[in-house]
Amino acid sequence: MRVTTTLNGTKHVVDDVWEGESLLYLLRERVGLPGSKNACEQGECGSCTVYLDGLPSCACLVAAGQVNGREVTTVEGLADNTAEEPALHPVQQAFLECGAVQCGFCTPGLIVSTHDLLARNPEPSDPEIREALAGNLCRCTGYEKILDAVRLAAQRGTDEQGDR
Ligand code: FES
Ligand code: FES
Repeated sequence: MRVTTTLNGTKHVVDDVWEGESLLYLLRERVGLPGSKNACEQGECGSCTVYLDGLPSCACLVAAGQVNGREVTTVEGLADNTAEEPALHPVQQAFLECGAVQCGFCTPGLIVSTHDLLARNPEPSDPEIREALAGNLCRCTGYEKILDAVRLAAQRGTDEQGDR
C-alpha cells in the first residue's frame, strides 16, 4: 500500500508498505529517521515514543498504514534544523548537559515525553515528572539524572518566559 504522511513537517510518500509494518519500521528503515528506538516492540518501554497528530504514541504499536494523511513528529523533528547552525531543542540540550544519556536507547522517547510534559505543564513537580515519564523505561541511569534534565529544561523554560 502507499502511505502519504507528514514527517517532521515534510510530506513523504512511501510505497510498498506491507500490512503488518509498524510506524517505527517505516521511520527507521524506510525514511531514514533512526532516532526513535526499537527496544521492546511491545509498547512496554517507550523508547519509540513519537508525536502522532500531536499526541505521544508508541510507534511500535501503530501500523504504518494508520498514519496515512496524518502528522508524525520524531525526536529529530524537535531540533531546530532550519538555522545555518542546527540547534538542539532545550530539552535535548538539558539531557546532554545533565548526563542523562548512557546507552541512549531510552533517550529519544524520554525527550519526546518530556517535551510533551513541559508543553502541558511548564513547572511540574517531581511526582508529576515521575508520573509523566512512567511509560519510559531506562535500564542505565537510575533516573536521577533524567529528573535533573527535566528540572533543568523546565527551569530554563520558566526563565525564558520571565525574560519576555
Ligand atoms: S519499542 Fe515501542 S514501546 Fe518499546
Ligand atoms: S540510557 Fe540506557 S536505557 Fe536509558
